[in-house]
Amino acid sequence: MTPTDPLGQDHVHPPEGRQQPMPPPGCPAHDGVTRLYVPEFAADPNAVYESLRAQGPVAPVEIAPGVPATLVTSYATALEVLRDPRNFPKDPRRWQQTIPADSPVLPMLMYRENCLFTDGELHRRLRSALNDGLSGVDSGTLRGYVERGAATLIDEFAPVGEADLLTQYGRLLPILVFDQMFNTPPHLSERLTKALGTIFEGVAADAEQANTELVLCTVELVEMRRAEPGRDIVSWLIAHPAELTQEELLSTIMLLVAAGIEPTQNLIANVLRLLLSDDRFAGGLTGGSVSVDDALVEILWTDPPMANYATTHPIHDVYLAGGVRIPGDRPVLISLAAANADPALSSARASGNRAHLAWSAGPHVCPAQSQAMTIAAVAVETLLDRLPDLELAVPVDDLTWRPGPFHRALNALPVRFPAVRPSAQTDENPGDNRWNVSPAPTSSTPQAPTSKERPGSSGSGEPRRWLNSLVRWWRGL
Ligand code: HEM
Repeated sequence: MTPTDPLGQDHVHPPEGRQQPMPPPGCPAHDGVTRLYVPEFAADPNAVYESLRAQGPVAPVEIAPGVPATLVTSYATALEVLRDPRNFPKDPRRWQQTIPADSPVLPMLMYRENCLFTDGELHRRLRSALNDGLSGVDSGTLRGYVERGAATLIDEFAPVGEADLLTQYGRLLPILVFDQMFNTPPHLSERLTKALGTIFEGVAADAEQANTELVLCTVELVEMRRAEPGRDIVSWLIAHPAELTQEELLSTIMLLVAAGIEPTQNLIANVLRLLLSDDRFAGGLTGGSVSVDDALVEILWTDPPMANYATTHPIHDVYLAGGVRIPGDRPVLISLAAANADPALSSARASGNRAHLAWSAGPHVCPAQSQAMTIAAVAVETLLDRLPDLELAVPVDDLTWRPGPFHRALNALPVRFPAVRPSAQTDENPGDNRWNVSPAPTSSTPQAPTSKERPGSSGSGEPRRWLNSLVRWWRGL
């Protein structure tokens, strides 16, 4: 049987003598190449997935200008790839030599000595340390961290009667929680929280300095915990029998921050958008008739925060079931979002089914699913409890999405509500400045709520330059 070869076609040039209709400028499929980094893709990714699916279970895409990749859109093929680490290894080092050093996707895809980019025994060793570190934080303790952080943030905007729930809540809360999980001492806590807030705000001008600050704080934290261990993830990682080297340790802590914070921010924002815009959940805000967990599971199916990722690097062409060829000269990304929407799955998507791929699958499946669910669920419950009459300040269709090939991330989530007084909790520990933080910079916090992109906001398509400088630091270790 001749293998089907959806990637062997020339997708760049139309066959001679055949006139191709010209797509409108900015179309994700302009020039025959499907570009996942343009704003038009972010505006309607499902339409793009549908047209890619017409090409077969895998399709060629560009994840940055001149950076080709293979995107898997079929659920069954996604599982086949994710469960075959021998043919689909994570190590990107051979590939990354072939793309420009300043490529905006490099920071998300380049090699670091942590479990995300390693295979086999090294991966098992690094992941065992990370799993044990994560499991040291019990769910009751984690709930407490989220509740305190949420109350602190809500107190900031509750008296105002309006807020951007992305920049003033969803984006900050996971940072505060990680601060607690790392048991950062107050003098480092404020520096770290501010640095992370600036970094995730994505304002390039401030990012370089914020990165340096993040790195310095992490190194200082590790040194402190080496000298004086505590009951926290950093101390547990240091003491783990896997005996992580200093480079592995710092890379693992940075992985926890990078892999943990941004998707959780987007999970919180995406689920709040659903709850505030969909009539099926409207009763749940006031009457409690629909569980927040149901909304979370729905988002993990329909708008997974990591939309296209779980990247692997086959070292030669691989033929999958049905003769599908995956070329060995480019990264393979799983479209977790497209696989979830695979028409072949329609019965499996029934309410409550958790077979979605939002956490990926196989040896690199997200190790922090329960922690992420707890953070997101408590974040939403606490907010709705304090501000039950919350409503979107703009029509849901006016909300815009941040461009980028990997994530499903809103630009802003403006809301209004009857103003309420702050709770008493922020005065409880006046001597401890751990929670005495203002929401990060507010260059993207609207004066009047609006969902449209603003100059200088993280939604402007700004490449994540802050990650570049972090990478430079990693290289220099
Ligand atoms: C507490 C928050 C979180 C932490 C600490 C965390 C941590 C991690 C880590 C360390 C990995 C790499 C595992 C490995 O390679 O063996 C990972 C993978 C992954 N995580 Fe999470 N994560 C968090 C939240 C989330 C959320 C909210 C999502 C999206 C719903 C998510 C989706 C994923 C996916 C898709 C992968 C697989 C990536 C790949 O194989 O390339 N994570 N996560």
